[in-house]
Amino acid sequence: MSFEGAAEIERSLEIAAARGGDLTDAIYARLFGAFPETEALFVMDKGGQVRGSMLAHVFETIFDFIGERRYAHRFIRAEIVTHDGYGVAPDAFAAFFGIVRDEVRAACASDWTASMEEAWRRLLDELHTYAVSPAA
Ligand code: HEM
Repeated sequence: MSFEGAAEIERSLEIAAARGGDLTDAIYARLFGAFPETEALFVMDKGGQVRGSMLAHVFETIFDFIGERRYAHRFIRAEIVTHDGYGVAPDAFAAFFGIVRDEVRAACASDWTASMEEAWRRLLDELHTYAVSPAA
């Protein structure tokens, strides 16, 4: 399976990494700005290992989703339930992918293109069909 726009997504991530370096702090700052209640969930994560590991999983999930799609769709459905147990509301969980996109777009700055915008919009739309509450 190949996602239409996969090349644009990959290119945007490469540019963001080259221009912005490690986006971890910026992404979590954006998350805590949009969903302040989530900051307390990481209070034990003093060194940032959990945040780093979670974000690595999110990027791997995106790469699998736009590539072979071996597990990403099932992983998202499973994690939404696990995260509900951590106290993460499903809408906050689902919004995380958009927060990543916003930060990637900010890091790409003038290198962000209309085709990247379109590819990410399609990706977020499709991800959101999996990242819905099981009860919904
Ligand atoms: C608002 C969105 C999210 C919040 C607030 C959140 C919160 C958390 C918290 C608090 C933990 C640590 C749980 C613990 O060890 O006690 C965690 C772990 C994890 N999260 Fe998230 N999460 C969010 C979105 C996501 C998304 C979208 C994914 C993947 C698709 C994901 C994947 C994971 C994974 C794999 C772990 C385990 C990391 C590890 O310790 O190796 N999370 N998350």
